[in-house]
Order: sequence, then C-alpha cells, then structure tokens
Amino acid sequence: MVTIGVSGASGPLGRAVAEEVLRSVDPGEVVLLTRAPEALAGFAARGARVRQADFDDRPGLEGALAGVDRLLLISTDKIGSRLDQQRAAVAAAAATGVSHVVYTSVPRPVPDNPAVVVDDHAGTERALRGSGLEWTVLRNNLYMHLQVPVVEQAIASGRLFANSGSGAAAYVTREDCAAVAAAVLTQGGHVDEVVDVTGPEAVTASDMAALAREIGGRDVELVDVEDHAFAEGLRHAGLPEPAVRLITSFGASTRQGFLSHVTPAVADLTGREPTAFADMVRTALKN
Ligand SMILES: NC(=O)c1ccc[n+]([C@@H]2O[C@H](COP(=O)([O-])OP(=O)(O)OC[C@H]3O[C@@H](n4cnc5c(N)ncnc54)[C@H](OP(=O)(O)O)[C@@H]3O)[C@@H](O)[C@H]2O)c1
Repeated sequence: MVTIGVSGASGPLGRAVAEEVLRSVDPGEVVLLTRAPEALAGFAARGARVRQADFDDRPGLEGALAGVDRLLLISTDKIGSRLDQQRAAVAAAAATGVSHVVYTSVPRPVPDNPAVVVDDHAGTERALRGSGLEWTVLRNNLYMHLQVPVVEQAIASGRLFANSGSGAAAYVTREDCAAVAAAVLTQGGHVDEVVDVTGPEAVTASDMAALAREIGGRDVELVDVEDHAFAEGLRHAGLPEPAVRLITSFGASTRQGFLSHVTPAVADLTGREPTAFADMVRTALKN
C-alpha cells in the first residue's frame, strides 16, 4: 500500500490532482497538504486525510508529511522567493521518509531561457537531484486557459498584440497536467525522469489571430511588438508589475523557441488524448 501526498492541495491544480487520484485510490491512502485545511472539508468528508502544511513552517511540514510515500510537490505561487520554500519542502520530504517526489516545473529551465520562473524551477530540480530521493519532474507547458482572454480581447478589439513573434508554445490544459501528475502518483515509475507535459500541438500568435477571426467572424490584425512595447501595453491595461514581467518573459521565451516542443506524454501516461487549443478556447468562449 502506498500513501500519496499532494502539497498545495487547495489550489486549482492540487484539487484537480486530488480528484483524479481519488478515482482509483482509497481516500484513506491520500494525504492532502494545504495552508487552508478548511477549504478542503469536502475532500475530508470523503475520507481523505487533510493536513495543515506550509513550506515556510519546516517542523509543521515534517509532521504533516508523516507516512507519505509519494508526494506531489506543487510549485508555489511566490515567484522569485519560492526557491527556499521548495528546497525546504524537498529537505522535509527526505527527512520524513518520503520515497518519491513528483515536482511541477517549467519547460527547459536553462539559464538562457528568459522566462522569469526559470531560476526557481531549476534550483528546485537541482535540490531534488541532490536529495537522495526518487524524483520525477513534470515540466508543464503554459496553461491553455490563460490564453482565452487573449483571444477574447482580439475578437473584441480586432487586434491581437504579441511579443512572441513566430514562436509557438505547446499550451496544455491544467486538467491534463493534473491527470499526468495523478498517473505518476498512482502508478509509480518514471523515477528520476523528466516528463515534458504538453498539449497536442504548438500554437503561434498567428494561429491565435486566425482562431479569433474564425470565432469572432471579423477581421483580426496580428500586431507584432517588441518586449518593451508589449510590457507597456500590459501596464496600460492595468496589470500589476509582477504579472507584466511574467507574461512578457513568457512571450520572449516562446519567441526564442523554449516552449514549442510537443510530446505524447499526456496520452502515454493517461491513456487519453490531450485537449486541443482551438477546442478549449471555443468551449470557453461559448460559456
Ligand atoms: N504552467 C502554467 O502556465 C502555470 C500557470 C500558473 C501557475 N503555475 C504553477 O503551478 C502551480 C499550481 O498552479 P495552480 O493552477 O493550482 O495555481 P495557484 O492558485 O497559483 O496555486 C498556488 C499554489 O501554491 C501553494 N502555496 C502557496 N504558498 C505556499 C506555501 N507557503 N507552502 C505550500 N504551498 C504553498 C498553494 O497551496 P495552498 O493554498 O493549498 O496551501 C497552491 O496550491 C502554481 O503554484 C505555479 O507554480 C503554472
């Protein structure tokens, strides 16, 4: 019998993973770790063990990890300051007898990738490799749903601004990422492996403009802009500075080819095809 733990379990990814895991695992073998246990009362009522855990509270975290064999370590949302949190979580897992840690990372976390999230993920991957634990790194491509407002705005305004040039990203749904994570947690294996989790195709800004034309039934001009002008546009739209830097850096990363690699990981690990970009956007914009 293997006890499965999920950190950050009250976030959307954590909840989706918990649902997937509970399809095939006895709830008594599932430990959901969160800073907000009350938010997971529904899972507790179904028999899952819900425990208070915060990567900033090492003793509490070690207590919460007691008995966990396989842990999904969900990267936190504290971009730029989460490396210490995630290193602490890896160390706590090693100290408490967790055998296998599955971690949510980013495609190609190498120094020349301009995405601002790269350093945190690369540092956590290094910590895992040096921990003595069994590890699996799930390098999740960009969430597809985050592009829905881009297409929606393009339909409304007739213009789609992008700094990604002719670069493409292999956008993937959060649900597909959750299904892959649950497959590794429930089936085991993939030890000391990196898995690139992607959608079924790589999508460019030009593809998105074409989709906006088709859905909107109107002309949509693709406006290719430099990083600086793109960031200014986001600021002008009222986005906070961290979001401006994050989104602009992902556009640059896409332009430079760091996000375009497509893999069959979703189908291979879950037995079902990943959701296609156009299908997801069409469905989202119908609702
Ligand atoms: N691939 C992509 O495009 C993409 C986009 C956005 C985010 N992400 C990454 O994927 C992760 C999960 O995404 P999501 O969709 O579920 O969004 P989210 O709402 O950003 O999730 C934030 C997660 O961080 C956890 N967290 C925050 N502070 C923590 C702490 N001190 N200790 C332990 N956990 C902490 C939260 O857990 P609790 O509140 O339950 O404690 C929650 O699960 C994000 O955290 C981020 O690293 C990827």
